[in-house]
Parts: sequence; C-alpha cells; structure tokens
Amino acid sequence: APAVAAPADADRPLVIGHRGAAGTAPENTVSAFKDARAAGVDYLEIDVQLSADGVPFLFHDDTPARTTNVAEVFPGRENDPVTSFTWAELQQLDAGAYFGPRFAGERIPHLDDAAKVATVNTGVYIEIKSPRNSPGVEQVVADALAQDKDWSKLLEAGKVTVIGFDEASNRTFAGLAPEVPLQQLTGSVPDAATIERWAGFVDSVGTNYRTLDAEDVARVDAAGLDLGVYTVNSAEAVQHVLDLGVDMVTGDFPVQADRLLDGL
Ligand code: G3P
Ligand code: CA
Repeated sequence: APAVAAPADADRPLVIGHRGAAGTAPENTVSAFKDARAAGVDYLEIDVQLSADGVPFLFHDDTPARTTNVAEVFPGRENDPVTSFTWAELQQLDAGAYFGPRFAGERIPHLDDAAKVATVNTGVYIEIKSPRNSPGVEQVVADALAQDKDWSKLLEAGKVTVIGFDEASNRTFAGLAPEVPLQQLTGSVPDAATIERWAGFVDSVGTNYRTLDAEDVARVDAAGLDLGVYTVNSAEAVQHVLDLGVDMVTGDFPVQADRLLDGL
C-alpha cells in the first residue's frame, strides 16, 4: 500500500476527529461529521459495522444501549448485538437524543454518508469495528471504496485510510484493496518483531497515547511506519504527543486540537 498522505507541515501532525467529533455532537452521526469538517481537520474518523441484512452502517458500540433509544423502540433488545438489527430497524432508532435534545431525530448513518460530508481537505479514517460481528465487512468496504463515486474521489485524493484493531481482518482488507492506506490499531505499541510483521501489510500504527513512550516511537519509526495516537483531548496531552513526535492525533474535539496545534 502507498504511504499515508504526508502532512502539509512536517512538524504538524494530522488532526483526526474521533467518531466525527464525539465531544461536540453525537458520535458517528452526520452532525459530528459536519462539526469535524467545519473545524477544518485533516480527517474524520468513523466506525463501520454490517447490519443483519448486510448494509454498512456507522456505529461504535457492540450494542445499541448507550447511544440510542432502543429501549423505547425495541424493548428487550437493548443488549442484543447492534449487528443483529436490520438496516430498516436501525433507521427507526434515534442516535442523537442521548447527546442532547437538539440532536433528537439524528439517524444512524450509512457508510456512504461519511463520504458525502468529507472533502479533499477533510478526509475519512474508516475503522472496521468488531469485524467478527460483521462477517464480510472487509469486502463491503473495499467495494464501496472502489465503486462509490464519492469514496473513489476521496481515495484518489489520498484522503481515505482504513484502520482496525483486528490483525486478521486488516490482512484480509490489505489483500482485497492493497492500494488503500491501512493502519493497525493497538492498545499499546508491541515488541519490534510484531511491528515488523505489521509492516508487511500496513502503513501506520495507531495507539493509545497514554501508554506511549520514546522507545515505542523509535520502534515504530525503525519499521518505517507512521504513528498515530488516540484519544487526545487536552492541551497537556497534545503537547505530550507532539514532544514524542507522532504523525497523527485523534481527538474528540477536533476544533480544539486544530487550534492547539496552530498555537503551538
Ligand atoms: O482512532 C482509533 C480509535 O477510534 C480506537 O478506539 O474505541 O474509539 O474505536 P475506539
Ligand atoms: Ca474508532
């Protein structure tokens, strides 16, 4: 796969809005994507899963309990896998009201809705979330990127990266779409041998910033991979990861992250 698009200023990491902009709008909704775009960040991040009837939808959790009104619409199904719902059922859920009354009525988006909000300035990080719950999701994402005109445009502009925690799923995706930049997510940076293995099919590593130290950064760098961190939500955390020299910063408040970086 080709290298991830380089930041305009090599000293300035790319800024990525987490779940769109989970700090200012309901996560993984069009409102959050628009907030990220308005903030002018480099990418918005989304989590994709497959409905029971095979439709790619944007949702983080394994169940609909926390961020929807499922208890009202489908009583008793609160803790069912969100992937056990059909697309038509998912569309009956309110995915905004949990965040505040002004977001009531916000729907669970389709994968392609993110591409419609994205631009050649604000691209998309597509996380393949819990792929074991969504068999075949790698092929669905690869097909969308190849066949949908909004996704193809973003891909050509170097503004799409696919990310995921599941190594086997990432390998599958790399085999299906070797031209798409790919990132291995992890809770902490592993030993050099594991990073070398990842370097066989990904361009970058994304880790929790809380566990990160200079030796971790050096090991990722030695493997020729870029390094991203999540979820960075304070000025202190931004300064910490800049001092360590990371390439991408994912946070819930993309406006704030962008301003913090500009001011540093
Ligand atoms: O950017 C990576 C981050 O999104 C991974 O964590 O749980 O928010 O999907 P999570
Ligand atoms: Ca995510």
